[in-house]
Amino acid sequence: MLIKRKRGWEMPEHLATPEHVFLNRRAILAGMAAAGATALSGGPALAAPYPARRNETYTLDRPLTPEKITGNYNNFYEYGTSKKVASAAEQLKTEPWSVRIDGMVAKEMTLSVDDIVAKIGLEERLYRHRCVEAWSMAVPWTGFSLAKLVALAAPTSAAKFVRFETFNDPKMAPGLAQSWYPWPYVEGVTMAEAGNDLAFIATGIYGKALPKVFGAPIRLVLPWKYGFKSIKSIVRVSFTDKRPVGMWEQLQASEYGFWANVNPEVPHPRWSQATETFLNTGERVPTQLFNGYGPYVADLYKGLEKERLWA
Ligand code: MTE
Repeated sequence: MLIKRKRGWEMPEHLATPEHVFLNRRAILAGMAAAGATALSGGPALAAPYPARRNETYTLDRPLTPEKITGNYNNFYEYGTSKKVASAAEQLKTEPWSVRIDGMVAKEMTLSVDDIVAKIGLEERLYRHRCVEAWSMAVPWTGFSLAKLVALAAPTSAAKFVRFETFNDPKMAPGLAQSWYPWPYVEGVTMAEAGNDLAFIATGIYGKALPKVFGAPIRLVLPWKYGFKSIKSIVRVSFTDKRPVGMWEQLQASEYGFWANVNPEVPHPRWSQATETFLNTGERVPTQLFNGYGPYVADLYKGLEKERLWA
């Protein structure tokens, strides 16, 4: 009898654990295979980075969204305003790719994504993602906490914000020739937000390296904020004492602010935020404050009540 085993993201999260064990077994086997291969060639034994061990701290209240849905409904304005940008995004050249770390740091540096992964290591986390357009998904990211990248960068005590920048090469992305957008895509967080364990840098998704449309080879993931804060295809990480102005904020500050924390009670000028629609099922559910991550992040905003913390 043929037994077809579903992958973790094709079944409800409470059923996904056996798959997780299975994934770890695969990781061990892959690592053993890599070690065997390098033993023959005499090189160093490298562990295969994907799939990575899952960090069980963050759990879901909904099934994971299959890749065939999330990979065909994307926002990546460098490749146009359509949600169907996966084939256009194939123009993105991710090798070579380096990330410049600069500004208020002990020593500015340029690192390849492989260098960063080798220094920090990878883990998998299941996160919800809520776009300000009121759709949502749940995906297994692979990466590491942003706090670990901050530690690697060693910012000085003068740094108050982290600013992220996406590539800006129109040869790789035709949307970048559209001069009405203030390219490059920029986003930022406070140092306190960057130090929160929930803030994540992803280099993979669904147990493999990021496909281009998800913002390969390295992107930010901030699950308690609206999706536009989760900047893709990062080439520069700067430490600064000036609050970064994101691309959307620069374009339309009345609609897109710096903080952009999820709050069902504060509507965006064009979309109510009270509910959200699951991308996979079309089911509409109430949206949660901080996208359900309040216990992890609400403290970050104590004393900041006068700020426009939502959308
Ligand atoms: N990053 C860049 N560089 N360009 C973009 O257009 N779109 C943002 C964010 N990061 C965007 C970006 C928005 S609006 C959302 S909702 C998420 O990416 C979408 O991520 P996904 O396509 O992986 O679902």
